[in-house]
Amino acid sequence: MATNITLHPGSVTNLERTQLLGQTGVTVWLTGLSGSGKSTIACALEQHLLNLHKFTYRLDGDNVRFGLNKDLGFDEKSRNENIRRIGEVSKLFADAGCVSITAFISPYLADRAIARELHQKASLPFVEVYVDAPLEVVEKRDPKGLYKKARAGEIEEFTGISAPYEAPEAPEIHIKTHETEVLDAVRIIADYLASKGYLS
Ligand code: PPS
Repeated sequence: MATNITLHPGSVTNLERTQLLGQTGVTVWLTGLSGSGKSTIACALEQHLLNLHKFTYRLDGDNVRFGLNKDLGFDEKSRNENIRRIGEVSKLFADAGCVSITAFISPYLADRAIARELHQKASLPFVEVYVDAPLEVVEKRDPKGLYKKARAGEIEEFTGISAPYEAPEAPEIHIKTHETEVLDAVRIIADYLASKGYLS
């Protein structure tokens, strides 16, 4: 734990950044089971917003675990730390004026609440998107063959099988991916961001 440290505020305000970029920094936090469609929606949303000339960046569970979080596994403490770091990183991107899209299972309510609070304290918007599909559906999709391995006992603490997933209680957006096309999901999220004035 670092001691004797002091916050050093700059002179550039959020309003100045917003005016320069023509958008407001925001975190779009996708949460859901493995195979629910988080990464697919995140990629399509990133592309859509970029086509609208919006400054956008995507943080994705698998990708971040190759770098920043390569020291972390999937036990509860590691997932807590994974999400703590992503909450901080995403806050920095949002503070820089970016539409920061995160795609992590983020299975624990408390961890997502910490990420939200971090943004609230910095007066940055946080939009939680529940990417929802029933376990039977994601298990059938099984794009990476992980559910099969988890059922066979080859992967420990697999979310939905042998580790918990705590569904959001009041997400800003709830998308049922077994009933919604990817482009419709993108439109729902983009419309929400526009309605809040974050894209202008
Ligand atoms: S978490 O729970 O938020 O810390 O997980 P995350 O960083 O999003 O990483 C999830 C991806 O890791 C792969 N994987 C596992 N997922 C769940 N449980 C276990 N035990 C596990 N082991 C590996 C899997 O590919 C997840 O990717 P997605 O995109 O969610 O399918």
